[in-house]
Amino acid sequence: MTVPLQIQVNGVPRADEVEPRLLLVHYLRDVVGLTGTNVGCDTSSCGACTVLLDGESVKSCTVLAVQADGCSVTTIEGLACGDQLHPVQRAFHEEHGLQCGFCTPGMIMAAVSLLCETPEPTEEDVRRGLEGNLCRCTGYHNIVAAVLRAAKEQR
Ligand code: FES
Ligand code: FES
Repeated sequence: MTVPLQIQVNGVPRADEVEPRLLLVHYLRDVVGLTGTNVGCDTSSCGACTVLLDGESVKSCTVLAVQADGCSVTTIEGLACGDQLHPVQRAFHEEHGLQCGFCTPGMIMAAVSLLCETPEPTEEDVRRGLEGNLCRCTGYHNIVAAVLRAAKEQR
């Protein structure tokens, strides 16, 4: 059985038929073909699947695609403006905020949401704001530096 789904993904309206049990992350990866959003766990704990749902960050492995019906989703692929990286993407590049890069799309989406809510964060705010996103490589130091740099550049 499938149900209709109407959704905007990175500003593009879509109409699809999906199984009611399909998770948003699998919809984005397997139906829409946007594989920048990663799946890193099966326990809702890693944050690699973070996207923006109507501007709020969510772990897309915890949301059914049908729950996003009528909503707008932004993934990592929707952040840059042509050749221009989003300030958070640029800051991750400049501060070396990644190594293997697996956590990076989710980390960046969580950071974008954090900076919308808290445009002038302290280091503590950044660490708390990203506590739902795990990185096995960097030790977090450069990620925090990147988010603080992006905050400064966005002001
Ligand atoms: S895949 Fe790990 S929290 Fe979603
Ligand atoms: S850069 Fe490898 S998991 Fe974060």
